[in-house]
Amino acid sequence: VAKTEPVARRASEARRVEGLWSGEFGDAYVERNLTVGDQRGPFWQDLLARLRVEGVLEVGCNVGANLQWIVRGVPPRDVYGVDINEKALREVRKRLPDVNTLWSPARSLPFRDERFDLVFTSGVLIHQPPRVLPLVMAEVVRCARRYVVANEYFGTELAEIPYRGQTGALWKGDYGALYEELFPELRLVKSGPLPEIPGDWEGVHHWLFEKRRA
Ligand SMILES: C[S@@+](CC[C@H](N)C(=O)[O-])C[C@H]1O[C@@H](n2cnc3c(N)ncnc32)[C@H](O)[C@@H]1O
Repeated sequence: VAKTEPVARRASEARRVEGLWSGEFGDAYVERNLTVGDQRGPFWQDLLARLRVEGVLEVGCNVGANLQWIVRGVPPRDVYGVDINEKALREVRKRLPDVNTLWSPARSLPFRDERFDLVFTSGVLIHQPPRVLPLVMAEVVRCARRYVVANEYFGTELAEIPYRGQTGALWKGDYGALYEELFPELRLVKSGPLPEIPGDWEGVHHWLFEKRRA
């Protein structure tokens, strides 16, 4: 029992956060954030001009606040969004019908290794409990051929922040340092705070990694 307990606890933590986001809490997030991301265009334009990627996956895409800009630089058939909230995915399908959307928990992505040039999260690692976080990061890295991007709240230490009356739902941390520690195949290309977008990106940090060839 002692040996399997951490695995069981990790699985139950994962199910708890997945249940939160797939249920009413996640639906309410969708309702509140239907127009979020309207000012993220310059960020994506700059990044895509620099990286010249052909296939992109966003893990935790919600209503497409990032995907709406990515399709301006990458053909929609090569753009994929995964989420655990069905209401969010329905919204993406309505807005961006040519983008590929899939329901999936982030800890078990339904793609082969290195399927995409770029795999990224934006405000998603921050919602993974510490026991689950390495599983999600491992899936992001596994599916990426060239680049991994994280846009997440920064803190020098992983620290929980109360979030909308929930405990165990939001952490800030040095997600870039964690990627480097866990995945030696990642080389940090760029990192720093993102320009503030009031009501949207406030205190968000950007990390860009390139995957070293084996
Ligand atoms: C705070 S929102 C961020 C949405 C979007 N990436 C953005 O930048 O606006 C977090 C999204 O990740 C999804 N999500 C959170 N944890 C997840 C998990 N473990 N597996 C799949 N999706 C998850 C939620 O359903 C939600 O759509």
